[in-house]
Order: sequence, then structure tokens, then C-alpha cells
Amino acid sequence: MLPRMGARPPLSEPPAPRPVILIVGGGPFQVDIARTARSLGAVVAVADRDPAAAAFGHADHPLAIDIVDHPALIDAARRLGVSGVVSAASDVAVPAVAAVGEALGLRVSSKEAVTRCRDKLEMYAAVQRAGLAMPRTVWVEDDAQARAAAREVGGFPLVVKPRSAAGGRGVSVVRDRHGLRRAMERARAYDPRGCLVQTFVGGHAIGVEAFFWDGVLALAVVMDDQFEDGFVSPVGHALPSELPEAVQAQVRDDVVAYARALGVTEGPANFDLRVERGRTVLLEVNARLGGNSITDLVRSAYGVDLSAATVRAAIGQDPRPELALGPVHPTASRLLVVKAEGVAHLDDPFGRIADREGIVAVELAVRDGEPMALRVDEHAIVGRCVVRGPTAAAAVEKASEVRAAVTDALRVIPR
Ligand SMILES: Nc1ncnc2c1ncn2[C@@H]1O[C@H](COP(=O)(O)OP(=O)(O)O)[C@@H](O)[C@H]1O
Ligand SMILES: [Mg+2]
Repeated sequence: MLPRMGARPPLSEPPAPRPVILIVGGGPFQVDIARTARSLGAVVAVADRDPAAAAFGHADHPLAIDIVDHPALIDAARRLGVSGVVSAASDVAVPAVAAVGEALGLRVSSKEAVTRCRDKLEMYAAVQRAGLAMPRTVWVEDDAQARAAAREVGGFPLVVKPRSAAGGRGVSVVRDRHGLRRAMERARAYDPRGCLVQTFVGGHAIGVEAFFWDGVLALAVVMDDQFEDGFVSPVGHALPSELPEAVQAQVRDDVVAYARALGVTEGPANFDLRVERGRTVLLEVNARLGGNSITDLVRSAYGVDLSAATVRAAIGQDPRPELALGPVHPTASRLLVVKAEGVAHLDDPFGRIADREGIVAVELAVRDGEPMALRVDEHAIVGRCVVRGPTAAAAVEKASEVRAAVTDALRVIPR
């Protein structure tokens, strides 16, 4: 039939198909990214072997797939026509993201690069080949080798750590030769083959939450780290850093060099560094978001949504507008940890937080009457908080008040 005279052309093109994003892992850490992907209009697929995974509640396609099963993930991604693949703070998910991304030709750092970042022996080897600063590191398999390594790395204090773990698990700072054997045992719980002995790096502890787009650094936020006695990893991060701007600029340049040496080219990356005598030294890098607290910290401090940037970049949208820093609001994030094992009894922790001003988030990871399951060796992670203050130091102080309120409310019945 001929078109009627005067018939108007269609007013608009048919709508573009919605991008389909695959989120690898469905645990609580993935909820933010799943929610964000939905709010950006993507069709959300979530893969997790646990049918009760938290992020399934935000998924259009809940996929009961174990995230270590890369071929099954790739098949599902192909079937759904996935155009982006991401994960949040899960280390196990990082190689899966790279595997799916490579198979489907999506925007990801190479599988080789992310695998290298997960294996500290490989990571340090690549950094050393590039001539960049790192602690002297020796792989050891028995006590005699460990004693020799202790001399090689310059004596005590030194650090013993597993080749591949996270969150400070199995990592010890060893003060003298008597502590060496025990430290090796702790590290070897994560890898019976052996462990790394390395120079202790002093100086100013910082984290850098970085974001790469097309091999170029699009954002690098320098955070000051806070520590607590007996817990080897930082318990807190604060923004803005106290380091002079010139030093921070140098750190950003160094982060670019480290990323290049390791092959990290796309998306978020979380660096663990020291600034020692004016020099940046790499402790490690994870080719993923630093964790929910850091995402919340950066959002509170600069109004930058790293989850949104990660989702956009994954589906091929330029994330840089999302990464533009707003005016700074000093903020601290803190992990609430206690050295204890057993069943938690909580007596009104929120009621004990006297002054709520500045509190952005307080979340508990334990429930009254239940065992404290989230652990880093001898320590339990009780929760986390994110707080603002007039200065970064004031925010850090306020975060320790929250920590004190929660630990005061906690009684642990040993099992
Ligand atoms: N060579 C080192 N010198 C000083 N501190 C270190 C060294 N290596 C690790 N640490 C401390 O231990 C923490 C955990 O070690 P790291 O290598 O980052 O392991 P993980 O992957 O478990 O986070 C670091 O955040 C840092 O505070
Ligand atoms: Mg670390």
C-alpha cells in the first residue's frame, strides 16, 4: 500500500538496545554495583553459585554459576549478549572478569595482567624488571632459606607474607629471628609451598584509588592510611591526604609507571604504597575497586561515584565525566576490628554513638548471638564506618569514637 500523502516520518529512531552487564559475584559487596548498573539503565546479570546471593535481588538475570567456572561464565555472557563485565571488591572475581572480557572482546585489563597482580611473586618480578621501587623480596620454602633471606633483605624488622591472599591474611611484621618460624607458619596456611620474605618499608602509608580508561590514568585519589596495634593492614583511610600536593602529584606519576609495568589498563585499581624518604614504594596493587568503604569514602569526600564510573567504563561509555572531583569534604573510613573469636553479643551499639553529626554510614558485619564469621586470622571484622569532619584528622578521630562505641557494645563469648 502506498503511504498516505502527508504521512509523517517516524518521530524518533527505535530506542537503542539496553546494554547488558554481567556482574561476577553476587555477595554483599556487589550490591552497590548491581544497583548502580540498573539505575544507569543496563540489563543486569549476576553470577554466583549461592542461590541466596544478596545481589540477585537486583538482577534481571540471576545466574547460578560458580565464578571460578570461567567457561560457564563465558557461555552465559555470550548467550545474553553481554556488553560489559565487572565485579566490585572480590579478588576471586577479578580473573573471571578478565576471562569473560577477553573472550567477548570487552574493555578489561588483560587476564595476564590481573593474574600477575594476584600473585605477589609475579607482581614484584614485573615491577623489578621495570626498575621501579619495591621492597626486596625473596621466595622461601624452609627455615634455612628464611634465615638466609632475612639477611638478604637487610635484617629485621622484615615482612613475611603469602604469595597470594588478601586483606592482610597471613602477613606478619617480624621484629627478630625468633618470630620468623611462626610468621612462616601463618603465611603457609595460605600456600603450603612457601612464602615471601621482604624488607619492611617504613615512611608514610598511603592507598591510591586509581581509575584507568584506555590505558590512561583518569583518576588517582591519594588516601592516608590509619593503623591499629596488632592488625597489619590499614584499618582506616582518610581524604584528603596530608601529603603536600607536589608529593601527591609524584605518587600519581608513579602509579602510572607501576600500572604500565603490570599491564593494568582498564577500570579501577587499588594501590597499597609507602612514601619513604620522598620515594614511592609499591607494596601491592589490586586490579579492582578498593572495597565498599573506599567507594563510599571517595563519594563522600569528592562526590565521585566509582561504582558508576566502573559500570559506565565496562559498557564502553566514557567514565571521565563521572570522575571529575567536586569540592572536598574531609572524610574517614574505618574497619571495625577486634582480636577475638566466638559468638558476638551486642548491646545497643548505635545507641552508644553519642554524637551522630558527620556519620555517613555505620554497618555491622556481626549479629547478636551469632559467631563472628568475617575474619582476618586472629581478628574479627565487626563492621565499618564512614564519617565526615571539618578536617581529615577530625574525621579520623570521629571514626575512632565510632569504633570505641561499637566495641564497647560488643561482648564475645569464646567457643
Ligand atoms: N614490605 C612491607 N613493609 C611494610 N609494611 C608492609 C609490607 N608489606 C605489607 N605490609 C603491611 O601489611 C599489609 C598487608 O600486606 P599486603 O602485601 O598489602 O597484603 P594483602 O594483599 O593481604 O593486603 C599492607 O597493607 C601493609 O600495611
Ligand atoms: Mg594490601
